[in-house]
Amino acid sequence: MGIVLGIESSCDETAAALVTTDRRIVAQRIASQDEAHAPYGGVVPEIAARAHAEKLVPMIEAVMADGALELHDLDAVAATAGPGLIGGVMVGLVSAKALAMASNVPLIAINHLEGHALSPRLADPELGFPYALLLVSGGHCQILRVDGVGQYRRLATTIDDALGEAFDKTAKILGLGYPGGPTVERLAREGNAKAVPLPRPLVGSGEPHFSFAGLKSAVLRAKESGRYQDPDIAASFQQAAEDCVIDRLRIALDTIEPVPALVAAGGVAANQAIRQALEHLASERNMRFVAPPLSLCTDNAAMIAWAGCERLESTDFHADPLDIAARPRWPLDPEAEPVRGAGYKA
Ligand code: KG4
Ligand code: ZN
Repeated sequence: MGIVLGIESSCDETAAALVTTDRRIVAQRIASQDEAHAPYGGVVPEIAARAHAEKLVPMIEAVMADGALELHDLDAVAATAGPGLIGGVMVGLVSAKALAMASNVPLIAINHLEGHALSPRLADPELGFPYALLLVSGGHCQILRVDGVGQYRRLATTIDDALGEAFDKTAKILGLGYPGGPTVERLAREGNAKAVPLPRPLVGSGEPHFSFAGLKSAVLRAKESGRYQDPDIAASFQQAAEDCVIDRLRIALDTIEPVPALVAAGGVAANQAIRQALEHLASERNMRFVAPPLSLCTDNAAMIAWAGCERLESTDFHADPLDIAARPRWPLDPEAEPVRGAGYKA
């Protein structure tokens, strides 16, 4: 059994966690910067980097104290090395390098998306490879086939916005708080999902990619028309998002050999309506549906520590060099072709 310290600082959550290779979260702390970014309706990179720099070291000390561990008890230090806001990623990665050097243990540079992709296996010991993964967060929106640690095949991505971004922008249009996902979800419960006619971009097209820019503009027009109640706009938006996700997944799943499980991860996987729709799709296809608990869906360090555990346990394990660089972009599937669209996301 090994124990790994995980560090996450790629966006607006500063987090540290200790996780064992037998799936025990020994300690974890997380500090959200929501309040600092709220006035801007989105994450401001400079504010984020400064906050990570201030909070991270005391947080690591606190997590080590929570777990009653010393540095020499660690088997590895894992940190997000990208993709993300480069200032924040550097803060976390540099701290991890220093700790790995000081305690003479391997440094494991984790792809943040790999953290999300493997997080369901931390929560569910029964989940084996392969599985189909819907990875939906503020910065990413992909469907992947996961064949093993380090083996990811991208089946679909977004040609413009990520789904979480669409939730955040809808929240901004409706004057709700940041982050938008939870606030839109709450308001949607009071609304009629059929009240506002909204588009389902790319639904009906043969390719499994996502697009949400047109949906966001339609939400803006609906709001500006003054004809609809905010809860109805929120509910109709969420329904459109859900319909897009299910339609795109159907197409993506048809492109691969059947896999036993449909897995959702990333911040938007915390959405109950979307979870229910996914559960329905999975049962229709005789697949098991797996989604981690809400606390493991949004950014956290336990998933980074766990990805470190998975790497540590893999047969071809090697530590990363201490001069490894932080990467603003880092696709999980480097072979995947860029798709048409203005804002290609890795
Ligand atoms: O995974 P995450 O914490 O950070 C990224 O790696 O991006 O995802 C954050 C995103 C935000 O866009 C947030 O609005 C969205 O996940 N989100 C939700 C919900 N909770 C968080 N979206 C829809 N419904 C939710 N309940
Ligand atoms: Zn994330």
